[in-house]
Amino acid sequence: MSGLVLVTGATGKTGRSLVSLLAESGVAYRTASRGGAPRFDWSQAKTWDAALEGVASVYLVVPPAVDDAPSRMAAFLESAMRKGVHRFVLLSMASLPAGGPGSGQVHQWLKDNSEDWAVLCPSAFMQNFSEGLNLASIRDEDTIYSNTGTGRVPFISTVDIARAAFAALTAPAALNSELTLTGVESISYDRVAELISQACGRPILHTQISTAAMAERFVSRGLPEGTATFLAAAYQTIAGGWQDRTAEGFRTLTGGSPMTFQAFAAANADVWKRAQAAV
Ligand SMILES: NC(=O)c1ccc[n+]([C@@H]2O[C@H](COP(=O)([O-])OP(=O)(O)OC[C@H]3O[C@@H](n4cnc5c(N)ncnc54)[C@H](OP(=O)(O)O)[C@@H]3O)[C@@H](O)[C@H]2O)c1
Repeated sequence: MSGLVLVTGATGKTGRSLVSLLAESGVAYRTASRGGAPRFDWSQAKTWDAALEGVASVYLVVPPAVDDAPSRMAAFLESAMRKGVHRFVLLSMASLPAGGPGSGQVHQWLKDNSEDWAVLCPSAFMQNFSEGLNLASIRDEDTIYSNTGTGRVPFISTVDIARAAFAALTAPAALNSELTLTGVESISYDRVAELISQACGRPILHTQISTAAMAERFVSRGLPEGTATFLAAAYQTIAGGWQDRTAEGFRTLTGGSPMTFQAFAAANADVWKRAQAAV
């Protein structure tokens, strides 16, 4: 499908890579961001119309730190459809069904109301270790904290998620389906710590914490209590083995193979290095 693509979450982990792909491929796009022009804010409905002008398709990222994001997004989607937007590609998460909390609500809305939609359900991001909370503890304390036990996860790179989103946004016909996106193999957080240790050249530990402590860490990053509790519980399902399964969604959409954690770690080795003390 052709036409202008609106990218929400354009400054975020998947959005940034999607914008690069659209630019490289010569696909017309507009970024939606609080720092952009025109300014776009999920919390301010008056900023939505300018962003939607002339748009054919939208990439939807549910912002983790916005309270009540699904109902705001439903109002936005109604506006978008009235303005003639045809296609919607939503970033949700693996193991979260339509009708579930958060992006599950938006997923259900699209199924019920849109004739051209796709929902991408990725497993946990590799970039959770190269940005944000884990990055700080790896750099400052040589430690990854989690409540995931020895459970394994088929981590996926956000660069690959963007490739899948690009394929869904530009597909010739409506997909009208949900696609689970995973990496090639499931690995434990202990193995993640090992691979990052090898890449950055110093030992990084994986330390177990409780689910309550995990939620507190999310709150300390600015997430609302409800979202933090939900995410910490989702991480706990890893310990029970619930995320230990790979899926074919990435290959189905792109025809390619997803990046391995080893390749991701090698490409990000510098991110985990500590700044040298001045002499
Ligand atoms: N991390 C994982 O392992 C994982 C796994 C599966 C699914 N997911 C899903 O991925 C999604 C993105 O999560 P993330 O942590 O990776 O975040 P992210 O996409 O890296 O960053 C959040 C984005 O939301 C935008 N944003 C935040 N508040 C906004 C507001 N009020 N109005 C407009 N835009 C706003 C930010 O843009 P500006 O600040 O520029 O406005 C930023 O681009 C979430 O829905 C999460 O559930 C994450």
